[in-house]
Amino acid sequence: MNYKHSFHAGNFADVLKHAALLGLIEAFQRKDSGFLLVDTHGGRGGYLLDAGDAQRTGESEGGILKLIDRRPIEQQPKRKATPPPLLAAYLEAVDRFDAETFPTGGNTIAALRAYPGSPLLAARALRPQDRLIVCELQPGEHSALSKALAPYPNARSELRDGYAAVRALVPPPERRALVLIDPPYEAQEDEYDAILGAVRDGLARFAQCSFAIWFPIKRRAGVARFLRRAADLPAQSVLLAELLVRPDDSPLRMNGCGLVLVNPPYRFDQALAQALPVLRDSLGEQLPSSRLDWLKKEA
Ligand SMILES: C[S@@+](CC[C@H](N)C(=O)[O-])C[C@H]1O[C@@H](n2cnc3c(N)ncnc32)[C@H](O)[C@@H]1O
Repeated sequence: MNYKHSFHAGNFADVLKHAALLGLIEAFQRKDSGFLLVDTHGGRGGYLLDAGDAQRTGESEGGILKLIDRRPIEQQPKRKATPPPLLAAYLEAVDRFDAETFPTGGNTIAALRAYPGSPLLAARALRPQDRLIVCELQPGEHSALSKALAPYPNARSELRDGYAAVRALVPPPERRALVLIDPPYEAQEDEYDAILGAVRDGLARFAQCSFAIWFPIKRRAGVARFLRRAADLPAQSVLLAELLVRPDDSPLRMNGCGLVLVNPPYRFDQALAQALPVLRDSLGEQLPSSRLDWLKKEA
């Protein structure tokens, strides 16, 4: 396994995934009772944007750095309208993470220096009654992850296969669960079999379980079959959100990405409906587009 998320931290795909993740957590927290969040593919937890891999690829320049600009208003290219709530909460969380990581004023430069991955975004959003379990298979990444999560008493990391963890952890004693599945897709389209297998097993064990599955879009044909299979899942509802920063006609690059949301919280589609056009307009490069559709919705 060669994948390192540090090359991609803060790119447009992270923006969609992480904004949605925080929105899902917020929706789960509308009820007082606690829930279990499982992050099946965690990565190292947090990333530096101004050093190493992330600086080399510069992918965050097409993502989070287009949305957060710390220069004085008069030096910014154009003032952006107030973002919708889903994005505002995400931008605030990212901004706060950076400010706390570099508290000595390093964060006053125009660009962010530190960016939280899904484990840290989630851990920082937990209430005392919520729990987070993050899986990571690469020992080096897991070691960094467990250090990153150490200050958060309700969060723990496990050096294990995230798909097997779904089978082991669902249903949780809380009887409320959200599972984020964010694999590296090194197995290309074979990854879909592993994802859908784990989701089917999870739903068989706990029908109300919610899942958020991230996927890349290169060419449309590559994802069409996956989406047909997702629509067939034995869930009450399956929502699709997609963001394309350029047309989906090249197999060589990631032209967009999407989220399949299985049993999403009530009205989560409305939060996404406000956020997606803003992401499309802010992050799009060439003929960008977005899509929000129910693949399945039982009355
Ligand atoms: C896309 S990255 C995760 C990024 C992270 N979710 C975030 O948003 O910050 C995928 C991670 O999954 C890890 N991984 C790959 N296969 C795995 C598996 N079967 N179980 C758990 N982790 C795995 C990789 O080592 C990599 O760190």
